[in-house]
Amino acid sequence: MTIKDKLAERAGKVEEFLEHCLKDRGIPNRLCAAMDYSLLAGGKRLRPVLTLAWMQMLGGDADKGMPFAASLECIHTYSLIHDDLPAMDDDDLRRGKPSNHKQFDEATAILAGDGLLTEAFGLMSAASIVEGLPADRVLRAIYVLAVAAGGGGMVGGQAVDMEFTGREDVSLDELREMHAMKTGALITAACECGAILSGAGEDHIDNAREFGKAIGVAFQIVDDVLDVISDTETLGKPVGSDEEMGKSTYPLLIGLEKSRTLAREYVDEAIDRLSGYSGAEQKFLEELARYIVDRVY
Ligand code: IPE
Ligand code: IPE
Ligand code: MG
Ligand code: MG
Ligand code: MG
Repeated sequence: MTIKDKLAERAGKVEEFLEHCLKDRGIPNRLCAAMDYSLLAGGKRLRPVLTLAWMQMLGGDADKGMPFAASLECIHTYSLIHDDLPAMDDDDLRRGKPSNHKQFDEATAILAGDGLLTEAFGLMSAASIVEGLPADRVLRAIYVLAVAAGGGGMVGGQAVDMEFTGREDVSLDELREMHAMKTGALITAACECGAILSGAGEDHIDNAREFGKAIGVAFQIVDDVLDVISDTETLGKPVGSDEEMGKSTYPLLIGLEKSRTLAREYVDEAIDRLSGYSGAEQKFLEELARYIVDRVY
């Protein structure tokens, strides 16, 4: 099986859970439809898959981690809905379908994002309340994910992205920091929370965090590259959007070739953190790290 197939298989299991997680929660029909619309529109499901793989590799019961893993996809999806809004990147296509605000309307898209973010905290807690994982582990993981998603993490990175838009003097250091926040923080938390939920010791949690940081930055570099070299059909979102909006990106700053080389270096750094492990999950995480650079969407 190729890594793409392996990822798709695991993504399928996450999707089965996502299909039910908003049911019977008293969410008004139109809002629920908008939340489901983006949540179930496809997507690689990279973040939940990372959580479950780290949990499993470190000896945890990954089945019990599913609600927590799903919460990462809810937060990620909310970030995409808001990222596409006219006030932000103003993109009309996401995951191969009209963006949430195009399919519904702006107010509904804002609220669908708010709803997904808030539901995420219920799902995180469910890892203990419903699945019975130890409350101290779950509480620590909630803390890590909340910090990563907030103003010092993803949201902060998005704010910096907006500040940098149209600016021509952004340095490589500034760009790296922005990427680490807007995209790296959630990917890092996905890995770190998997390690925390498994009950493993601090050294393992450190490895998960550092692995996540390295693949997180690599992931956004490749996202920027694909925005230049790919096509809308393959990506499921508009290409050339960054240039059109005047975004600061790696390809703009150092060129396509160097961007890919740099992404590979980050991935090698990540894989170093797997050297003390073995077995199927270790192999999967190594392949997944490489796939981040080689992916076409
Ligand atoms: C896109 O994320 C936005 C970034 C943070 C770069 P993904 O490439 O993981 O998007 P989906 O989930 O597969 O649609
Ligand atoms: C988005 O970065 C990062 C988020 C936190 C959503 P981009 O704006 O480059 O993501 P895409 O290319 O629209 O998916
Ligand atoms: Mg953006
Ligand atoms: Mg965008
Ligand atoms: Mg992009």
